[in-house]
Amino acid sequence: MLIQDEVLRNDWIVASRSIDIKEKPVQVIVMGERLVLYRNEEGIHAFKDLCIHRGAALSLGCVKDGKLVCPYHGWEYESNGECSHIPQLPEGRAIPKKAKAFKYGCIEKYGLVWVNLENSGTELFNLPEYNDEKFRSVIWGPVEALANPPRIVENFLDVGHLSILHEGFLGVPEHSVIGDYDIHWEDESIRSDEIAIYQPDPDGSGQPKHVYYTYEILRPLTVRFTKKDHETNQEMVILLTILPVEEKKSVAFGVMLFNYDSGQSDQEIIEFQDMIFSQDKPIVENQKPEDLPLDLQVELSLKSDRVSIAYRQYLKKLGVELGTA
Ligand code: FES
Ligand code: CO
Repeated sequence: MLIQDEVLRNDWIVASRSIDIKEKPVQVIVMGERLVLYRNEEGIHAFKDLCIHRGAALSLGCVKDGKLVCPYHGWEYESNGECSHIPQLPEGRAIPKKAKAFKYGCIEKYGLVWVNLENSGTELFNLPEYNDEKFRSVIWGPVEALANPPRIVENFLDVGHLSILHEGFLGVPEHSVIGDYDIHWEDESIRSDEIAIYQPDPDGSGQPKHVYYTYEILRPLTVRFTKKDHETNQEMVILLTILPVEEKKSVAFGVMLFNYDSGQSDQEIIEFQDMIFSQDKPIVENQKPEDLPLDLQVELSLKSDRVSIAYRQYLKKLGVELGTA
């Protein structure tokens, strides 16, 4: 893939919605690696989905008294990965030291489950609105796309397509011109100025008007925008984050936050987002090359593509820092 494995393995990658991980173990594939996620009283844990005894998938097992039990011979694993019970061992016989499940970093935050394949100390980005009681949150996804993550991320950052591909929903063709705006590189992220976008009905009142989008690049596979209505101070945030499943297969998740009541149920908000994504999906699944070209000479960019260009530069910089680009 375009982004070095090393970068992603040391980062927090979305694995699931929180509500989808209960006691019953679940298999999730992250960058071609099989993980098992399960929940006990202490929280959610992520192990390699592989029992060291005979290679069975632990996700086929169950959780008993807080321990993950292999379905094949019943070895029991503690939250720290250590095996604490082997049914076949005669009493008094010590459990082999090597009897362990491989444990990954795992946290539950912003309604999602995040894993860190290298267990590195990287901090998760901040999403302040999630903990602000003025904002209501709705989780969107998981939604699959047969595309590499950066194409999906860039599509989300692409301001020019709103009035064309999403005509009548997120823009109108008569208002396709994008005014100038700047990009600001900050310590940990990249942020655009506000970009005016004319929308047919941005708040559900039926009134067309200009709203103002600010895009931010937080991580290689996590970006957000804030949509502001300056007349009403209504704000909507969408954080998009992508799970790279394997080459050309991704799963998208969104955290949507609103400081106003659009009169829609969670289900209606999710369905609208699904409909928008169903317009984007055939585009991203058929773009060539499948990997974003980081050489800015390869595709033809406009000034208004500055957010996308910044994303490509951001990815390129990661590669340069690693000495691989
Ligand atoms: Fe897991 Fe034997 S393969 S206990
Ligand atoms: Co779109």
